[in-house]
Amino acid sequence: MRLALVPRERAAGTVSELLERDMVVRSAKISKRDGEVLVPINPAGEEHAGRLGLEVVEGEVHGRKDESPQRTVARLLSLPDDVMRLLPMRWEFVGDVAILRLDERLRPYEAAIGEAYAKALGVSSVCVDRGGVSGELRRPRIDLIHGESSESVRLENGILYKLDVRELMFASGNVDERARMGSLDCQGETVVDMFAGIGYFSIPVAKHAGAERVYACEKNPVSFRYMEGNLALNGVGEAVSPVLGDNRDLPLAGIADRVIMGYVGGTRDYLWKGFDLLAPEGTMHFHDTYKTREMPRALERDVSLAAGGREHEVVSLREVKSYAPSVSHYVADIRVYG
Ligand SMILES: C[S@@+](CC[C@H](N)C(=O)[O-])C[C@H]1O[C@@H](n2cnc3c(N)ncnc32)[C@H](O)[C@@H]1O
Repeated sequence: MRLALVPRERAAGTVSELLERDMVVRSAKISKRDGEVLVPINPAGEEHAGRLGLEVVEGEVHGRKDESPQRTVARLLSLPDDVMRLLPMRWEFVGDVAILRLDERLRPYEAAIGEAYAKALGVSSVCVDRGGVSGELRRPRIDLIHGESSESVRLENGILYKLDVRELMFASGNVDERARMGSLDCQGETVVDMFAGIGYFSIPVAKHAGAERVYACEKNPVSFRYMEGNLALNGVGEAVSPVLGDNRDLPLAGIADRVIMGYVGGTRDYLWKGFDLLAPEGTMHFHDTYKTREMPRALERDVSLAAGGREHEVVSLREVKSYAPSVSHYVADIRVYG
């Protein structure tokens, strides 16, 4: 359960505001500890808590009166037993939208299932992820089965990411990497984010890591439009210059203290451009997928080929997540010295 930590002196006003806005999970108990009141909140409450500057944590609700979402769903739905057994036990949230994967056999019951999960999870909309992506812009195959809209705002590490889950993918598996980008020290740096998406890395680097100037390049107009909105939403419109287009056409060279290449599926083909963008000395965060048994040799070979004789070192290599059997998504931090 997500809990907003409200300092006691602010509790009276803030808790009633959250209640009035229907952002409190009413079936769970509000509790107190030390100088704080712990308020169980729904995704809309989490977003609002961010705006109020409140810390939000994952926590147990003591003396909790509510039942698990699975039990609530079971109570709300009266479907045949063999159908009930197929109901999903897991889901993902993007702000106020829950995303489920449903067995094909549940298709005839989707409207009722959507309504039950919306109630049980305290969200406005429920979507079904049909799996895979379609078209050149890699639109996710996601349908809305309950609610008015699939557009939502996700709060993550103090950053608000607005997107429409039917238009764009949100890679929840990359959460640690987004946090890591925000924890860097980029004071005074010029950063180029070659695959900016909706601002996944550009925003933490500008907002938390203190980069002076971020060029955020994105070629998908839908992502670009959301990025522009997200820059304003997070107050980094001044520091981040969004650029619509293919990063290989960026009319920049030798200017970046840091280049972020946050994309997988052939990013190695863009390494030459990353090196081109880097100042004589700088750092590159290079993502791509590799066969696990070929690491780190395969990555080092690709980097050396693109470096064209420039002195460099892979200073860290991390597995972000498993991608396919025997293939993982990796990120390498590469220091370039000349
Ligand atoms: C979706 S983001 C990757 C996910 C992100 N790193 C995260 O933390 O969730 C990658 C973006 O790169 C964009 N892209 C792909 N090729 C590009 C190119 N050549 N130039 C600019 N943007 C590109 C895609 O449109 C996509 O929005």
